[in-house]
Amino acid sequence: DRQKYIRNFSIIAHIDHGKSTLADRLIEKTGLLTQREMKDQILDSMDLERERGITIKLQTTRLVYKAVDGHEYMLNLIDTPGHVDFTYEVSRSLAACEGAVLVVDATQGVEAQTLANVHLADEQGLEIVPVLNKIDLPSARPEEIIEEIEEVVGILAEDAPRISARDGINIEDVLEKIVKSIPAPNGDEDAPLKALIFDSYYDSYKGAVAYVRIVEGSVKKGDKILMMAANKRFEVTEVGVFVPGTMPLDVLSAGDVGYITASIKNVIDCRVGDTITFASRPTAKALPGYKKATSMVFCGIYPAEGESYDEVRDALEKLQLNDAALSFEPETSVALGFGFRCGFLGLLHLEIIEQRLEREFDLDIIATAPSVIYRVTTTSDEVQMIQNPSNLPDPTEIQMFEEPIVEARIIVPNEYVGNIMELCQNRRGVMLHMDYLDPRRVILHYDMPLNEVIYDFFDAIKSKTRGYGSLDYEFKEYRESDLVKMDILLNKELIDAFSMIVHRTKAESRGRQICERLKDVIPRQMFMIPIQAAIGNKIIARESISALRKDVLAKCYGGDISRKKKLLEKQKEGKKRMRQFGNVEVPQQAFLSVLKFD
Ligand code: GTP
Repeated sequence: DRQKYIRNFSIIAHIDHGKSTLADRLIEKTGLLTQREMKDQILDSMDLERERGITIKLQTTRLVYKAVDGHEYMLNLIDTPGHVDFTYEVSRSLAACEGAVLVVDATQGVEAQTLANVHLADEQGLEIVPVLNKIDLPSARPEEIIEEIEEVVGILAEDAPRISARDGINIEDVLEKIVKSIPAPNGDEDAPLKALIFDSYYDSYKGAVAYVRIVEGSVKKGDKILMMAANKRFEVTEVGVFVPGTMPLDVLSAGDVGYITASIKNVIDCRVGDTITFASRPTAKALPGYKKATSMVFCGIYPAEGESYDEVRDALEKLQLNDAALSFEPETSVALGFGFRCGFLGLLHLEIIEQRLEREFDLDIIATAPSVIYRVTTTSDEVQMIQNPSNLPDPTEIQMFEEPIVEARIIVPNEYVGNIMELCQNRRGVMLHMDYLDPRRVILHYDMPLNEVIYDFFDAIKSKTRGYGSLDYEFKEYRESDLVKMDILLNKELIDAFSMIVHRTKAESRGRQICERLKDVIPRQMFMIPIQAAIGNKIIARESISALRKDVLAKCYGGDISRKKKLLEKQKEGKKRMRQFGNVEVPQQAFLSVLKFD
């Protein structure tokens, strides 16, 4: 039986516990690639990922492994992203698997994303194979961590391979475990085609390329297929597997993980989560797919001066193809013109999309202050979901103003508990309870307003715990809160793109902070520019940018020539990304800098 020798799995781990390193070692050990072909981190292929050192997009690869039992196995490794913002993508890849290798850093132990990922794997009914990594380090405590995994995660870990992914120690143990512990797929090969699209990308020659897990039946070139949710028909032009590049095959059958192309020109027709079946002999029922990703954070994205609206829309559509968590719809801003209101999983997701638009699509864009979705009940008992502060009804018409609350789990070493409690309190968190994970570490449960989490909360936890703290959160409920809309005025003109909804107790300090930031990033101009923060008509903070002295360059004469050069270069650089408001020029940087908390 063919499927007996297939294993479909993902590697799940808390960030930095060594998932990518282990993936590289597995690829190496299975000998599909030579040492020379091994780039540093094959699976982290996007530049951006390498720069940030995190895995964002899934990558899939097939490994051929000759096991101790003498049989040759096909191991399909599906990579998962490792950041708190991306649990949605994790569950996507897990849906294509029967098992998951859980990597735990033997010097660190169980972290917030370890728990979150195990939870997702459990939901999919996957077999979890724990692995202890970094045993080469003197501070590794594998025995203790095994106990911790058993107690906290609730799975047996006694025979977990103790490995060093970096040094390639005991990697075979992991491969053997995968073969022995993870069940083989067992879909009906003779049934009508039933395939899950778990990822996709756009290729300018082949059209949309669907990453698929064949659950039942088989598919080959020439087959007429139906995308069940999209209700669109296509003819298959190619099927194949990832090695990790694409390698065409004659046929993909039940249990296989690979790709399908079908000259799908419209990216919308190849939705991640959709089920592919035969057009003439459809399967009875589509696969459940997975929970729809809900955007938690919204912001406006506008073409910068000189960029085209259509190009931004095309780019967003392409990105959305394999990132269903990205949502967008057209909106207009008085200050910025035509653009899009976009929804993201979190602030990191937002930043990544922003950078991808700039790098992969070479677009200059302006992103407005991010916002969560508020719920407003008007005095006429109408309920409105507010994504954009500009759409807020007049304060006199608001009966109830509610904000989303998440339940956050924060794991920290004992000595940082005080720091974290202070941080959460400052961000309006309410502690639910606190438990000891082991003698050294604590897990704190907090109710937090999402509004306070999206601004750098994760970074704040990291910096207050010397990098040891970890965070995971999920939406809980809407709760009434004393919220107000704060506007920013530049030269007495309201810039709607800067408007935001804040808690009343935070308005003044936030307003002051933003005015100060803007003062720093908006270049001086020929006249004085007042910057004000206001709630309604009430000014709550102000700053001003003094007028530029005409002799700013003259001053450099006789002085340092490189300083002058720098100044001119800076001006040139600034020119590229300016936005004119009345007679004030605002650099794009200004829009970003108002987002950051301290
Ligand atoms: P994300 O891609 O961000 O989710 O992280 P990851 O879990 O893939 O971690 P990655 O493989 O990038 O490893 C994180 C860091 O740990 C890197 O600096 C690795 O070199 C290091 N590392 C991984 N495995 C080992 C190991 O066995 N021993 C030691 N000493 N370091 C390791």
